[in-house]
Amino acid sequence: MFREPTAADGQRMWEIARDSGVLDLNSSYAYVLWGAEFAGSSVVVESEGRVVGFVTGFLRPSEPDSIFVWQVGVDADQRGKGLAARMLHALLDRLAERGVVRLRTTISPDNEASQRTFGAVARDRGMTLSSEDYLSADLLGEGHEPEDLYTIA
Ligand SMILES: CC(C)(COP(=O)(O)OP(=O)(O)OC[C@H]1O[C@@H](n2cnc3c(N)ncnc32)[C@H](O)[C@@H]1OP(=O)(O)O)[C@@H](O)C(=O)NCCC(=O)NCCS
Repeated sequence: MFREPTAADGQRMWEIARDSGVLDLNSSYAYVLWGAEFAGSSVVVESEGRVVGFVTGFLRPSEPDSIFVWQVGVDADQRGKGLAARMLHALLDRLAERGVVRLRTTISPDNEASQRTFGAVARDRGMTLSSEDYLSADLLGEGHEPEDLYTIA
């Protein structure tokens, strides 16, 4: 089941991010706040009553017809079943009704799973995926990889 998150989902979203070992782990407050304040631009997926994946996003203030996807995470034992792609499709379908025509996100050059996931979503919607330099490693600090800006339009 795909649905908007609530504040009560914040703790599970935090756990999924923590357990991914890949995503930048933010405070539990950040995930709870996202469920409370940015539900309309976010998605969770449940399996047997438990949240097993999430997408957090916001409508870009400088570009309100774009959804900016902040993080995507799926529990390791639920991967490879199309859940991430289906969450992103659910989000794009929901937001199309609000005039959103493009998706933007950042991906580091070494995250092939993420590049493939967004590539598959673009392909299956008949849209294009493009990338450009965005946040350099020196901006992000502490040995962080750069984050390139990817656009599905
Ligand atoms: C990236 C992640 C969200 C993908 O979740 P998922 O539910 O397994 O992805 P899906 O099953 O929806 O796959 C979507 C597409 O990406 C491809 N893909 C996903 N993970 C892949 C991997 N590790 N290697 C190669 N291809 C991969 C799938 O084959 C599919 O493409 P297809 O339609 O051509 O077959 C998951 O691996 C994860 O949580 N990783 C850790 C967190 C992370 O890196 N998040 C980054 C943001 S996406």
